[in-house]
Amino acid sequence: MSISNNSFAAIAALFSLLLLSSMQCHAQLSSTFYERTCPNALTTIRTSIRQAVSRERRMAASLIRLHFHDCFVQGCDASILLDETATIVSEKTALPNLGSARGYGIIEDAKTELEKTCPGVVSCADILAVAARDASTLVGGPSWTVKLGRRDSTTASHTLAETDLPGPFDPLDRLISGFANKGLSTRDMVALSGAHSIGQAQCFLFRDRIYSNGTDIDAGFASTRRRETGRTNKMQGKSGFVWNPNP
Ligand code: HEM
Repeated sequence: MSISNNSFAAIAALFSLLLLSSMQCHAQLSSTFYERTCPNALTTIRTSIRQAVSRERRMAASLIRLHFHDCFVQGCDASILLDETATIVSEKTALPNLGSARGYGIIEDAKTELEKTCPGVVSCADILAVAARDASTLVGGPSWTVKLGRRDSTTASHTLAETDLPGPFDPLDRLISGFANKGLSTRDMVALSGAHSIGQAQCFLFRDRIYSNGTDIDAGFASTRRRETGRTNKMQGKSGFVWNPNP
């Protein structure tokens, strides 16, 4: 896969911003947080992510998105990983995640590996953050230093996942205000959206635009997508969508 889109490169710096911004990440995070308590933490996570991405290259994109969807709801606290219980309404079943967010099992596998050598030490929120960075570098994208020491939430917010995560049909002003509410500028939003240089999306999310002959979409891009995407809903399933066919 080649990552030619410059905006994707900008996500490196912005991910740091995303994680350190006003999203409840005020603790003293440090890149050496596990140096004494779990010296192999970063290597263990990297090995898990490398295996996952070599099994399925798209997983790199899915893990980056999973981290984003975690951070936008209650901060980067792994709340997205919590399953439904008597007291928790899971974020997994919120519309932006249901049938769409992927990679939960990969984070779980990495956590399982870490538990073998450092039981109860490394937070899932940190694993998500490191996994996103490792996923990016493994597919030729940018790298960045991940500050560590996040704590995992014991609560999730299905409601916030539905209200705060950006929707595919949101108007621009809503997207801008949604990011502003997280301490991120319009410029940050545009750069972070460069993450869409890799990964896939379901046809129904963009079919109208590629068949609309609108002027707000590159004609060549639209015609390539039309070749890959049927006009009807019959290709709505998992495989009927592509932004970058080679992730
Ligand atoms: C600006 C607002 C954004 C909107 C409206 C948006 C919307 C979407 C939608 C609708 C999909 C396709 C989901 C599906 O088909 O199931 C998607 C995929 C994706 N998004 Fe975003 N997104 C936004 C921002 C971001 C940000 C900030 C990142 C990360 C920094 C990101 C990373 C990704 C990635 C990597 C994928 C592909 C995932 C995969 O292939 O599994 N998105 N996004």
